[in-house]
Amino acid sequence: MNSILVSGSLNADLETDVKRFPKPGETLLGGPLNISCGGKGNNQAVAAAKLQANVTMFGALGQDTFGEMLLNNLKAHHINTDHILIRNDVPSATALITRTHDDNHIIVTDGANNTLTQQDIINASNLIQSHDIILLQQEIPIEAQIKAIEIAYDLKKTIVVNPAPVRPLPLHILKKITYLLPNEHEIIALRQTPSDTPQDIISQSSVQIIMTWGAKGVLFKDEHQQTKHLPSYKVEVIDTTGAGDTFCGAFCSFLHLGLSKAIDKALQASALSVTRSGAQGGMPTLQALEAYHFHR
Ligand code: RIB
Repeated sequence: MNSILVSGSLNADLETDVKRFPKPGETLLGGPLNISCGGKGNNQAVAAAKLQANVTMFGALGQDTFGEMLLNNLKAHHINTDHILIRNDVPSATALITRTHDDNHIIVTDGANNTLTQQDIINASNLIQSHDIILLQQEIPIEAQIKAIEIAYDLKKTIVVNPAPVRPLPLHILKKITYLLPNEHEIIALRQTPSDTPQDIISQSSVQIIMTWGAKGVLFKDEHQQTKHLPSYKVEVIDTTGAGDTFCGAFCSFLHLGLSKAIDKALQASALSVTRSGAQGGMPTLQALEAYHFHR
């Protein structure tokens, strides 16, 4: 089993349900407020740990109630938290989430995630050295993310990047990524001409792209350079928040089984993740994944 270092965000998710999203300038009444652990980095770390991967989380938290909640949650999932930086002058980040029955809107507030510097990443070089896979998203400063990619590349690590929320990376940095996991919206940022379809982008890219496609499944280039579509598994959808994160964490957990197998297992894990509410609420354990009878 690979060891995974997740370098990324930790957010307290403040969520409520709405029947539909508000129009600009409109106020709507929602359901009760639910506070839970989230952040794309944190979610991906938890998803991988629940599937019994050996996971270390690297990121920054404030010295506050949300920070304590997030730290305790990581520990409860047996994730190594020894290297998390605690800031005493900046609050932990939060995510303001509105959910409808099949979609969500998310705004991440400024907070400790944004204090990660290139120097913090340089200081964590030994940590990068001691893991097989480095898993990154884009809720930390882009300079810190780039530094992590550069160091991991020089150390010949497997680099997995989920470009969410999408922020452009220079081409020479993109080329250092082993697997890029965008969704159907994020992949558009990679196109070279406006008429390029996701299929064009995947087939032309020198980076191995695996595009998550919501209920439609996944598009990717296989080991024989053929662009393939794997449909998703059918489940009853309760909350899609965190489905992409579950996919990324599970993908890394199963990468030792080979690309196609890792993608299929990640599809199964993300299918189960939407059957319960909260970004981490439905993430399956390895036992739950193996016991479930999936169908497409
Ligand atoms: O991908 C879902 C996550 O996005 C939420 O947990 C929220 O914190 C935002 O980072």
